[in-house]
Amino acid sequence: MPSPERQILVCINARPPGNPKGSCSEKGAQSLSDALRDLVRERGLDGRVMVNRTMCLKHCSRGPVVAIQPDNVWYAGVTADDLAEICTDHLEKGQPVERLLMPDIPWE
Ligand code: FES
Repeated sequence: MPSPERQILVCINARPPGNPKGSCSEKGAQSLSDALRDLVRERGLDGRVMVNRTMCLKHCSRGPVVAIQPDNVWYAGVTADDLAEICTDHLEKGQPVERLLMPDIPWE
């Protein structure tokens, strides 16, 4: 099996309720990850794109955080409604979705 062209990291890190940093998990990242994996498969991209869950990607206040490598493109506040656009524009056309790009902020 060839190496994937892209790897998508979806932060699913969880913190206890009330933690001031919050977490991607409390913002629905686990179901987001499942939906993204399903959509990648439906689009026939699963041979070229790997979807992996990961722990904290250090932008907790902007979650759910999704990073696409090797493009070094980071998305903030991703919802299920954004996934089709990410698949079509970024994964199929190679055009990152500008409106979802992580602002240039320090690591948290
Ligand atoms: S909890 Fe997701 S980036 Fe930190």
